[in-house]
Amino acid sequence: MKVLVTGGAGFIGSHTCLELLKAGHEVSVVDDLRNSHPESLKRVEAISGKSLRFYRFDAADEAQLEEVFAQGEIGCVIHFAGLKAVGESVRLPLEYYANNIGTTLALCRVMKRRGVFRFIFSSSATVYAPGSPMPVAETAPLGCTNPYGWTKLMCERILTDLAASDPRFSVVLLRYFNPIGAHASGRIGEDPAGIPNNLLPFITQTAMGRLRVLQVHGNDYDTPDGTGVRDYIHVTDLARGHLSALDYSLTHTGCEVFNLGTGRGYSVLEIISVFERVNGVKVPYTIGPRRPGDVGTVYADPSKAKDLLGWQAQLGIEEMCRDAWRWQKGNPNGYLSHKGA
Ligand code: UFG
Repeated sequence: MKVLVTGGAGFIGSHTCLELLKAGHEVSVVDDLRNSHPESLKRVEAISGKSLRFYRFDAADEAQLEEVFAQGEIGCVIHFAGLKAVGESVRLPLEYYANNIGTTLALCRVMKRRGVFRFIFSSSATVYAPGSPMPVAETAPLGCTNPYGWTKLMCERILTDLAASDPRFSVVLLRYFNPIGAHASGRIGEDPAGIPNNLLPFITQTAMGRLRVLQVHGNDYDTPDGTGVRDYIHVTDLARGHLSALDYSLTHTGCEVFNLGTGRGYSVLEIISVFERVNGVKVPYTIGPRRPGDVGTVYADPSKAKDLLGWQAQLGIEEMCRDAWRWQKGNPNGYLSHKGA
């Protein structure tokens, strides 16, 4: 099938493009590269031995989307493109609402006009109301603590209403937990701009010596060692979850939501310790205060995805830490390490 992937040059997008190509799909990517690098797509092509089409523009641009759709039978849209930094979203709420909702609305409008009805949406576990009992199932109460989260929840609402209004639509909402790791080849991975916000890129850059010390954000949570517990999932498992969602959309209409997580939580100190052990490196760290907005424990109930999509995570925390390190070591400055960059 021909699949249009927005944000395909990004971390999860590039890994999903690779799995789509490997499974024999045709891939067209729309990405404005504001937070990603085209080298990721070249490497996806090199690893898969297949080529994809790349269009550089903002996915909110309906006129350009029309041109891409006019070029042929797109069977499904997977929508990753979006702004995703929680802290930044608090400072720049209008940018977040305009961009994340604008791209989703533009895609929906063009799809309806062009008769394309399969939509897979990149959502987040951040849509669950804080204080939900763990593990969190799809039926848990929803509510967010920052504009980024609200954009995800609003897009979920828009897509749910769209599917309810037109029985031809098949919408799959995927709520990601904490994607980490990198492709086993070490050739594609996470390449955050500036100082990373998220734990794993911070760990890999500290282990490299590019950053001096990792600050553990709080050790007084109600968790076994006091540090935050999250459901880390290998990005390749997450990418494969999109292929399962695509298969599901072939035989179902309406709108369905799925958690993509492993169902197992790890604390910050556990992650540091596994990372050091499997990679034989040190990660200098200090204990700092809690990060505003963080909660102690988040992990998924992934049973719905297993039951209905036939998907479950295969790769464990050791593979996640090993693959993240292989990518970082081979690409000390991310995709900018590449000579042609
Ligand atoms: N942490 C540290 N030090 C750091 C960075 C993170 O101790 O330098 C801790 C955090 O306090 C937390 C854990 O590591 O306990 C994971 O933090 P991340 O920033 O990697 O991930 P979050 O769980 O905070 O957020 C992630 C995504 C969000 C998404 C959310 C959904 O970054 O986009 O999961 O639950 F909304």
